[in-house]
Amino acid sequence: MSRQLIAAGNWKMNTNYSEGIALAEQISKHSTDPKGLVILAPPFTSLQGVNEVIKDNNHVKLAAQNCHVKEKGAYTGEISIDMLIAVGVEYVIIGHSERREHNKESNELLAKKVDLVLSKGLIPIFCCGESLEIREAGTHIDFVANQLKESLFHLSSSDFAKLVIAYEPIWAIGTGVTASPEQAQDMHQSIRKLLADQYDEAIANGTSILYGGSVKPANAKEIFSKADVDGGLVGGASLKAGDFGDIIDSF
Ligand code: 13P
Repeated sequence: MSRQLIAAGNWKMNTNYSEGIALAEQISKHSTDPKGLVILAPPFTSLQGVNEVIKDNNHVKLAAQNCHVKEKGAYTGEISIDMLIAVGVEYVIIGHSERREHNKESNELLAKKVDLVLSKGLIPIFCCGESLEIREAGTHIDFVANQLKESLFHLSSSDFAKLVIAYEPIWAIGTGVTASPEQAQDMHQSIRKLLADQYDEAIANGTSILYGGSVKPANAKEIFSKADVDGGLVGGASLKAGDFGDIIDSF
């Protein structure tokens, strides 16, 4: 996928079926001519319904919040990539910090999930980001570089070119504390430089890198205006159609 502006809403474990449909309808209605791509990541139970709502809108795409690393089998309670494909999913969020923390997902496991998603022709939205402790220790750039190295740098250039990256500092997620536009830009720039070193300039300049962590209408414009920030992965503010609409309009 070539670099583009993206506003992605990660609904996390929020919205029941009817709330999700209503939210998707409002966002789709709002997104008739957005400057960037809009991606919605509802809970699994709403994927099919949300797909029905958005499928005729070319500007709005469907994402899953996770998938299992295995293709099928005796994994009670899990969701496979083929199940997601069957309900219209095109993007899969991989490596969200909440899954890294609560489900102990390692860089090694995430590398396998990225491979699976790409092998099925879907696009991973790969999340990276450091804790407050790491930020305060000043090792955040190296920490994020290592996440990318261990989960992504085995990929060929042609596979890497399909990915979307989301930088989400853990200390800014759901806390109301946003990374400053400069902090976001610094990290995004260093990620892009890393991609240029590991791959080449075309890959570095062609990859969409989203910022996530307390993005809201009041700060989206300034964050999105930074040279290496290509949009946002939005949690809380994506649950209100008005707020997410304003964020979409911030490009
Ligand atoms: P908030 O926007 O609620 O901080 O969540 C960010 C996030 O985790 C998106 O994936």
